[in-house]
Amino acid sequence: MSKEKTTYTCTECGGSNSKWLGKCPHCGAWNTLIETATDTGTPAKNRFSALAGTSEVMPLADIEATDISRTPTGIEELDRVFGGGIVEGGVVLIGGDPGIGKSTLLLQAMDALQRSGMSTLYVTGEESGAQVALRSKRLGLDKSQVRVLAEIQLEKILGVISIDKPEVVVIDSIQTVYSEHLTSAPGSVAQVRECAAHLTRCAKATGATIILVGHVTKEGALAGPRVLEHMVDTVLYFEGDTHSSYRLIRAIKNRFGSVNEIGIFGMTERGLKGVSNPSAIFLSQHPQPVPGSCVMVTMEGTRPMLVELQALVDAGGPSPRRLSVGLERDRLAMLLAVLHRHAGVACGDQDVFVNAVGGVKISEPAADLGVLLAITSSLRGKAMPEGFVAFGEVGLAGEVRPAPRGQERLREAAKLGFAHAVVPKANAPKKPIEGMQVIAVERIEEALEAVRALQ
Ligand code: TYD
Ligand code: MG
Repeated sequence: MSKEKTTYTCTECGGSNSKWLGKCPHCGAWNTLIETATDTGTPAKNRFSALAGTSEVMPLADIEATDISRTPTGIEELDRVFGGGIVEGGVVLIGGDPGIGKSTLLLQAMDALQRSGMSTLYVTGEESGAQVALRSKRLGLDKSQVRVLAEIQLEKILGVISIDKPEVVVIDSIQTVYSEHLTSAPGSVAQVRECAAHLTRCAKATGATIILVGHVTKEGALAGPRVLEHMVDTVLYFEGDTHSSYRLIRAIKNRFGSVNEIGIFGMTERGLKGVSNPSAIFLSQHPQPVPGSCVMVTMEGTRPMLVELQALVDAGGPSPRRLSVGLERDRLAMLLAVLHRHAGVACGDQDVFVNAVGGVKISEPAADLGVLLAITSSLRGKAMPEGFVAFGEVGLAGEVRPAPRGQERLREAAKLGFAHAVVPKANAPKKPIEGMQVIAVERIEEALEAVRALQ
């Protein structure tokens, strides 16, 4: 056995140093050296040449492409984001804010898998076994056979996995696990990376599916799930406002499936329940239309969803603020410039706040038109007409560009009783949609004009 020694590796250039320094001696970056455990028993030069030939090199065409088998978790909305189910030897990272429902969902999924005959291991580092038992009672899973291990030392966890041979393992959470080979505290970048790397190797070696839970830390990237994204096969993030009852799970990386689909859940008294028809959940039900609100149709995977966008434009101080929740801030600044330049609507000295209702994050540019209409509506203090919906990307030249799958978006809005729509010209339906007046526009000025005529 070779002895382990601690060195410090730069996360920027990969250079190593024997002691920790604030500045990397190789590339000069600050605060990038992190502790790593390395083997010292190997000679430095030409140490790999003896290994040549021990692994076979083959033409790609000769390698058999075996289809991956998936095991559905039994929770439909979760399987949808997984791309059908969990994969043998796959490593999944589930990130999200504390309290959003990661432990709840995974306990439900583990119970369903155990019931279907798979052997499970739920490693809890954040809560005691008793707390997990309490949660399972709350979820109505009191007779659950899920195997629980309250442990935070990596070596002990790996030991249990090698003896117990579970088929699915949950590590809740990766930030509580520590390896005794490193001196840094649990939750530090070094520990989180080292432990995740060992667990990943363990998954590949044993064929167990390992699900790592990661908290999004306050500082954002540091030691949060982001540092692990490149190591794992699938990365899922929870979205949603912890105060509202809806939660979204989005795949941002999936080596075994598409990243388009999202899973939607409602938090109930008895855990998370899938929402199979989510199209209207992100609308706040105003008794009467209010200024500063515009509904758009977003496409999440294969499902259209109506989301209310809200804007508040208010007299600002010497440096007016632009804040957005659920929408990109840079895009907001760009849209305000387009509005000024091409439609003559100035918000230069005003604070502008925009928000997507329900804590949903919208990254598609098809939200642009809705955002601009909500802003002008707030600025003028005039509500949009009742049953109004809009979508379309807005370009820097003031043009309104089509959104993918416009017909489906329009049909969904019509189904929910929306009677007026302003859409890009290329998205105009060939046949009229019953009960819906569709106004096709090519430029932002036309869109504003069309809305004014309806108000
Ligand atoms: P939890 O799964 O502990 O969140 P995380 O692991 O992501 O930190 O869920 C926390 C919240 O969910 C908690 O505030 C209570 C709520 N909850 C319910 O509303 N219903 C339930 O059945 C359960 C178990 C939790
Ligand atoms: Mg938890």
